[in-house]
Amino acid sequence: MTITILGTGYVGLTTATLLAHCGHTVYAVEPNKERLDVIKTGRSFFYEEGLDDLVKHVVDSGALIPTDSYEESVPSSDIVFSSVGTPDKPDGSSNLDYVFGAAEEAAKLLKDGTIYVQKSTVPVGTGTKVRAIFDGLGKQIAYVSNPEFLREGTALADTLWFDRIVVGSDNKNAAEKVLSLYRELAAQRDTIAALTALTKPAKIPDGEYIATSQNSAELIKVTANAFLALKITFANSIAILADKTGANVKEVMDAVGADKRIGRAFLNAGRGYGGGCFPKDVSGLIASAEEFGAENLIMQAAAEVNAGMAAYVVEKIQAGLDGELEGKKVAVLGLAFKAGTSDSRKSPAIKIANLLVDAGAIVSAYDPKAIEEAKETLSPEVTTHEMVIDAITGVDAVCLATDWPEIVSYDAAELARAMKGNLFVDAMNAYDAERAKAAKLNYIGIGRS
Ligand SMILES: NC(=O)c1ccc[n+]([C@@H]2O[C@H](COP(=O)([O-])OP(=O)(O)OC[C@H]3O[C@@H](n4cnc5c(N)ncnc54)[C@H](O)[C@@H]3O)[C@@H](O)[C@H]2O)c1
Repeated sequence: MTITILGTGYVGLTTATLLAHCGHTVYAVEPNKERLDVIKTGRSFFYEEGLDDLVKHVVDSGALIPTDSYEESVPSSDIVFSSVGTPDKPDGSSNLDYVFGAAEEAAKLLKDGTIYVQKSTVPVGTGTKVRAIFDGLGKQIAYVSNPEFLREGTALADTLWFDRIVVGSDNKNAAEKVLSLYRELAAQRDTIAALTALTKPAKIPDGEYIATSQNSAELIKVTANAFLALKITFANSIAILADKTGANVKEVMDAVGADKRIGRAFLNAGRGYGGGCFPKDVSGLIASAEEFGAENLIMQAAAEVNAGMAAYVVEKIQAGLDGELEGKKVAVLGLAFKAGTSDSRKSPAIKIANLLVDAGAIVSAYDPKAIEEAKETLSPEVTTHEMVIDAITGVDAVCLATDWPEIVSYDAAELARAMKGNLFVDAMNAYDAERAKAAKLNYIGIGRS
């Protein structure tokens, strides 16, 4: 089959690369010249385990064709995926300019019988508006909502060993054709994984194929992300109470999560959620609920609590430094919004670093992959380092802000030796507290007083 992917960001490039490995001819359409030029050289423009190897393979073989041209790609395609960005507007609602822009441009060129697949995360009801663009073209264009669930940091593994594939459409044949692509992918997963050093998930998921209505598919995606954001925020709200009472939120959540009805995942307290998805998907859900007159108070509260978590961490650092941040040297370890990715969009780690700068601290920072991307929003007053040791030498306090394995496993004695002070604030609750205490560090977690 010939397939076009419109928008080759984190989602689009992963999907395009894997479908090309299944034997399809895949056009990767990307208007951002910088990104496109990198892909043309057979590399990914962002860090993701195993992806570079796979991109190189399919670009070299000609199965993946990077281009900025709709004319070159769309007219010959049987299936067109749209995976353009859906950032938030200043009021929190979803900016759908790219979604409608891509559909309008493609509409002029789609051949009769093409399936147009929406992979971008969009508010419920968007598909109906996109379909209106295709109506009246005098061509049969089937529309399928196929939301994406991959996580940055494990994007390839998530796409190969998926929990579920959701397709929502009133055209059963089109939905089935899209599902068949994922069946092919599942059949090829071991072969594709063997081309990289990709780690298989410890437990292979059942991999459900779920067909729903178009509106349900759209709502499934935002509901899933909102619920995960809610679990994190719930754990944080309990951590704040644990801090005040001397309880340990880890012990609490281990026991609470042992209840099969609740589950342990996403109940880790820390500096809150960030990234290119959760914040905007939560605010997008709040805005779309308002639009339909179904105010979502629970997500409004979650967004508010989450927004306060970085400041909560900074208060802990300040308290640990006898109430004074002015002139104090603080190292922030980790800048990416989570480990395993260079993505730093809306990263709480950056927010912590910037708040420390605002409070007069002298801030150094380390991240193994995200320094370049972080610079977009990181205060220029933060000095960045390629090595942990350079960031921590002579500081009064260290804040573990992203749980990269090399930070979490960093030798506590080495930390204690390199630092001037001994305050260690673990904003991810990821470090071994006993190890830190044994090295005479003043370990402070979130909800682990
Ligand atoms: N990143 C994730 O982990 C993730 C996971 C699941 C779902 N999603 C959703 O998938 C969508 C894409 O996310 P992303 O992180 O890959 O975004 P991204 O911003 O990294 O990539 C989007 C790409 O689309 C390109 N683009 C913009 N307008 C275009 C047009 N008219 N034609 C072709 N390309 C165009 C941009 O240049 C950009 O490279 C979003 O809706 C996001 O919410 C993302």
